[in-house]
Amino acid sequence: MAEDKPLTVVTCTAPVNIAVVKYWGKRDEELILPINSSLSVTLHQDQLKTTTTATISRDFTEDRLWLNGKEDDIGHPRLQSCLREIRRLARKRRSGGENGGDSSSSDPLALSLAYKVHIASENNFPTAAGLASSAAGYACLVYTLAKLYGLEGDLSEVARQGSGSACRSMFGGFVQWIMGESSDGKDSVAQQVVPETHWPELRILILVVSAEKKHVSSTAGMQTSVKTSPLLKHRAKAVVPERMAQMIQHIQCRDFEAFGELTMKDSNQFHATCLDTFPPIFYLNDISKQVVALVHRFNTHYGKTKVAYTFDAGPNAVLFMLDDTVDEFVEVVKRSFPPGNNGGQFLKGLPVDAARTSEELLSAVVRDPTPGAICYLLHTKPGPGPMLVEDASCHLLGTDGLPRSSCS
Ligand code: DP6
Repeated sequence: MAEDKPLTVVTCTAPVNIAVVKYWGKRDEELILPINSSLSVTLHQDQLKTTTTATISRDFTEDRLWLNGKEDDIGHPRLQSCLREIRRLARKRRSGGENGGDSSSSDPLALSLAYKVHIASENNFPTAAGLASSAAGYACLVYTLAKLYGLEGDLSEVARQGSGSACRSMFGGFVQWIMGESSDGKDSVAQQVVPETHWPELRILILVVSAEKKHVSSTAGMQTSVKTSPLLKHRAKAVVPERMAQMIQHIQCRDFEAFGELTMKDSNQFHATCLDTFPPIFYLNDISKQVVALVHRFNTHYGKTKVAYTFDAGPNAVLFMLDDTVDEFVEVVKRSFPPGNNGGQFLKGLPVDAARTSEELLSAVVRDPTPGAICYLLHTKPGPGPMLVEDASCHLLGTDGLPRSSCS
């Protein structure tokens, strides 16, 4: 192989997000345009992130992709859409506009657009755990390619074409995806509502439910819902617009009770829509339902919303609470779902202190403990958007453009 070093190697990281006003249903499958706006919280990358390295070289003979160390098919249509769109924007920028300008072949950057790209991507969490890896994955891909080709500005519109929810992972904190009206999707973009620093007490606890079985993908599930669910149409038209405004207000006011209640109601309506789909789709399992009941008993005991749940297209529960509730609620979860044989590994992420829970609380909320039903708990908080990694030792691709062992 030639001694030449690749022109550039860029590594970036991007976060996972969890929606509190759910996106479910497209009005345009190809451009990934939604039938309603949505709103999410970006999770901290210390706990959940995708890392992507991209590099170009005139020595490369084809575009190539490695996912979690294994070569994968780069021909996936959504991946190709992102790649094509980034290259188009880069070409446009270099030529000084859509139609004009001088794309001189003496410009080494213009030349590099003809080069093939190698991309490697990996998650710091098990992909199989069902923790929304495609949103972080596409956000990271688009952000990294943009840095590689020197693009600036909002690229949520490009990330959206990889996976709808990915556009919200292009920002940190609290993020809305405005559905837009235009048929070309130019106005269907994500926007930060407030940064993660706005609500420092907010915590997130992910309950990873065991016995993960294959379920209907979001993409396929929402297609069937759009075709068959009258509730989905009603939700998009009459419910979500008002909820978006309310949710933004609750976040701005840091009103946990109102935020939590609306989060639970919107998750419930999303799953009701799945049940209204024909044939029906069930993402919640018995353990998910036990978590729902536990949260409600806990809140009833205190006479207010201290914990809120939300579920995506799978059985894992994502719980919101304030930092002063975490220790006690974790103890309640441990009593309700006693750890299986991974006792030492049951708690991951931010530290949790031992809590002194009253017998009164335990007897009011813990019912029929189910050992081993929760695989582990991940404690995290809202976090920042995608980031450039300056440390060259973290590149996932070596100077030969092939995977190398990763940075821990
Ligand atoms: C339930 O973004 O995964 O998580 O656009 O087809 O890739 P595609 O779907 P995807 O759907 C996410 C659905 C959801 C709700 C949400 O994140 O808003």
